[in-house]
Amino acid sequence: MKPLTTRLSDRVAVITGTARGLGVAIAEQFASDGARILLVDRDDASLPEVADKVRAAGAPEVLWTRQDLSQEEGGQAAIDVALREWGKVDILVNNAGGGIIRPFLEHTRDTLVETLNRNLWTTIWCIRAALPSMLERGYGRIVNVSADSVHTGIWSHAGYNAAKGGVNGLTTGLAFEFAKRGITVNCVSPGGIATPELLDMFNPDSAVYQKHQMIDINKALELIPNGRLTELDEVAAVAAFLTYDNTKAINGQIYSVNGGQWML
Ligand SMILES: NC(=O)c1ccc[n+]([C@@H]2O[C@H](COP(=O)([O-])OP(=O)(O)OC[C@H]3O[C@@H](n4cnc5c(N)ncnc54)[C@H](O)[C@@H]3O)[C@@H](O)[C@H]2O)c1
Repeated sequence: MKPLTTRLSDRVAVITGTARGLGVAIAEQFASDGARILLVDRDDASLPEVADKVRAAGAPEVLWTRQDLSQEEGGQAAIDVALREWGKVDILVNNAGGGIIRPFLEHTRDTLVETLNRNLWTTIWCIRAALPSMLERGYGRIVNVSADSVHTGIWSHAGYNAAKGGVNGLTTGLAFEFAKRGITVNCVSPGGIATPELLDMFNPDSAVYQKHQMIDINKALELIPNGRLTELDEVAAVAAFLTYDNTKAINGQIYSVNGGQWML
């Protein structure tokens, strides 16, 4: 299918965490703006099917690769695929992540390490791998996916917030450091998103509810002025907006997409 717009024609976008959830919606959004897309996840079972969806959304070319991005070699290997196949990386969206949401003292060493691995180290390694070629070409758009729980501090999010707060700090520091080199670094920062996993939390008997050990999601919803979870495409649209040619003055920002749960 033809893309809906030509805003990102000729752009190469590496998007991480695309096996499911928000990453798929982000890849479809970038496809609908005409970008070539590399899908990356450590879980590759669904990637061929996601690639078909992304092609159907308008991407002229789509590739996928299985990498554990919490390892330096995984981040490098992902970026190398795009450089080898297309000669450049214009856009990097660090969406890989996900929470292990539980009261701080109920975390184990392993769950804390995994939380930081998924959310912070994946972002660090992918950026470290992508930056040199971006700097060489004097062009780069980096969008990190953070979380608005860093601002709201809601129940059971301290471990996760340590990781996403690190992502926010990385964003402002890198934005400042590389601003004169044609590179922007921003965050899109969702509140609760209507992913299948989060929707499962409306059922206290579900495995997801037990796994996250969070309080009743209905109480969390009461804190959102517009009274609903955010749709995946609403977050994806902001991620793409941060990479358009006419938004390049936006740099080092944390863009909340949260139904008004946290303002300013
Ligand atoms: N769901 C929400 O309500 C919500 C709210 C705020 C922020 N976020 C953030 O948005 C992003 C997407 O959320 P989601 O709900 O779609 O998450 P998800 O858990 O459904 O998907 C995350 C993807 O990242 C991949 N991933 C994790 N660690 C990886 C690694 N080391 N190497 C490669 N791939 C890895 C997973 O395999 C998975 O496919 C995440 O960064 C998450 O922290 C989500």
